[in-house]
Amino acid sequence: MSGPIVEVIILPTPDDVGRVAAATIASVVVAEPTAVIGLATGSSPQCIYTDLHRRVSAGEIDFARARGFALDEYVGIPLEHPESYASVITRDVVEPLGFSPSRVRVPDGRAADIESAAKEYDGAIRAAGGIDVQILGIGANGHIGFNEPTSSFASRTRIKTLAPSTREANARFFDSLDEVPTHCMTQGLGTILEAGRLVLVAQGSAKAAAVAAAVEGPLSAFVPGSALQLHAHATVVVDEEAAAGLLLADHYRYTYASKPEWQRLS
Ligand code: GLP
Repeated sequence: MSGPIVEVIILPTPDDVGRVAAATIASVVVAEPTAVIGLATGSSPQCIYTDLHRRVSAGEIDFARARGFALDEYVGIPLEHPESYASVITRDVVEPLGFSPSRVRVPDGRAADIESAAKEYDGAIRAAGGIDVQILGIGANGHIGFNEPTSSFASRTRIKTLAPSTREANARFFDSLDEVPTHCMTQGLGTILEAGRLVLVAQGSAKAAAVAAAVEGPLSAFVPGSALQLHAHATVVVDEEAAAGLLLADHYRYTYASKPEWQRLS
């Protein structure tokens, strides 16, 4: 375990990113089988779920007693829509990893009273004892969850308008841009910062600028990912392409290579 820093781990390939990030999640669940995991959607964390699935199949870990809270959900599409985050979390996480469905929650983007539903979601996280480890990706504009630029570091779960660039980025999951919802419900940056541990993964050159701004840039609501710098135990696992904008890349490589074996997870 490292001290209160943002630890940056640079690895050769997206598969390596998945393996090392998954090792962190696995270590939490092995130590505490009822652990509460913060679940992210999007392409970035798929490598984590793939590696966790391998570990579940090998009998190394069991998620049956773990709990899960999704980071975010669209507002304005039906629950059964294949791209609702409720559907995605069921398909990509709950079923392959063997979570008990009743122990995993996704924000209710269909609630008639969206503000109460958002408040209730934060309350449910607290009632579960808080999130032990939160999985995160990062948007090319620096968003985490769906906290778009200028989200307050103190923000709680709430409804947000999606940035046009986020809708365009997510249009690949829908038949057309018009079908991408304009709103979402997302855990706030303040909510995310309450998790015991944060693990952010990014792959590919499209994320290089966002990763550099989040890790090495000033704390700024303009780059929501920079909120990581306020957390006592955040780990950023990136491939070489996503690391391309980091000024201190050699320092992070040296630090990771020098890590004693007992601190290293694989
Ligand atoms: C999405 C999600 C985020 C995700 C980010 C990057 O829209 N709401 O949780 O981290 O944008 O997505 P991707 O990993 O697909 O690049």
